[in-house]
Amino acid sequence: MKILGIETSCDETAAAVVENGVSVLSNVIASSVDLHAKTGGVVPEVAAREHIRQITPVVDQALHEAKVGWNDIDAIAVTHAPGLVASLLIGISTAQTLSYIYKKPLIPIHHIAGHIYANFLERDEKPAFPILVLTVSGGHNELVLLKGHYDFEVIGETLDDAAGEAFDKVARLLNLGFPGGPAIAKAAEKGNPKAIDFPRPMLDKKNKYNFSFSGLKAAVRREIEKSEIRNQKSEIVSDIAASFQAAVVDVLSDKLIAAAQEFDVKEVHLAGGVSANELLRKVIAEKLENNIPFHCPKNLIYCTDNAAMIAGAAYFCPRKEGDFRKVEVYSQLPLS
Ligand code: KG4
Ligand code: ZN
Repeated sequence: MKILGIETSCDETAAAVVENGVSVLSNVIASSVDLHAKTGGVVPEVAAREHIRQITPVVDQALHEAKVGWNDIDAIAVTHAPGLVASLLIGISTAQTLSYIYKKPLIPIHHIAGHIYANFLERDEKPAFPILVLTVSGGHNELVLLKGHYDFEVIGETLDDAAGEAFDKVARLLNLGFPGGPAIAKAAEKGNPKAIDFPRPMLDKKNKYNFSFSGLKAAVRREIEKSEIRNQKSEIVSDIAASFQAAVVDVLSDKLIAAAQEFDVKEVHLAGGVSANELLRKVIAEKLENNIPFHCPKNLIYCTDNAAMIAGAAYFCPRKEGDFRKVEVYSQLPLS
């Protein structure tokens, strides 16, 4: 079964063709990140305008690279929520139009379900359930128990900022550019992660599987003010970046490991943009000590927003028979 996926929830205009939920035949992404780098964050109006410009050529390119025509496509999957509303609507209305013209079923997919299914792309071996997934992106930070295909239970979530958002905000405070995750990781390479003892928020028993990063961000701000960073050398920037990254990685990995043990899971997965972070991957792998199989998306391109993950999730989504041309845009949320 070949599914065309469309993803426009934030600043990436993406389309992909995926066969049977795992084989990626094409994965095209046009990002407007350079435009947002100038403003230090995504401007919704700018993102939506770029989606309008890019969506048709991106869909054409995805079919072309997959070497398929409309007759070969069995269904169209589109991200329906959550995300920037104007951006989402461009993907949804494109998918609805294509579904109507070419008479293809339309499958609405939740963005985080897409990130979770990024771990199944290009994967040969059968999954062993239950799987514990740590979803860490710019907008989301959850611990999700995947009890079977498309059977999700959210066991923890952030009470304020997501980890990716914290990376982006701290990078902005340090003048490191946007997106902040890769910029902080690069600056941290030359820094000392023990230079500043930043707080490890929510490692108490009461908030066992919830997260909070706004206090950590405030601690970084205080440290910057204290060190009068603008007049100082780049070593201080590197030390702050490395110490901040170490604090985030400690919190994420400790909670993940504790939940993996409590729920006796058979696999542990990392998903979302922050899953591209090398230190996070390394620390989780070390803490798990080969006891539980650990998976990250097979290609870094599947960590951040892409449409292959949406097409992949649609294959495993139970609602794929019949005609879903009328998208229930905000009603079908597999994750609360
Ligand atoms: O999943 P994603 O593309 O978009 C959302 O759904 O939010 O995630 C983007 C987030 C951004 O906050 C970005 O700073 C972060 O992922 N990110 C990283 C890395 N690469 C991207 N964070 C830490 N380390 C990275 N290497
Ligand atoms: Zn995302």
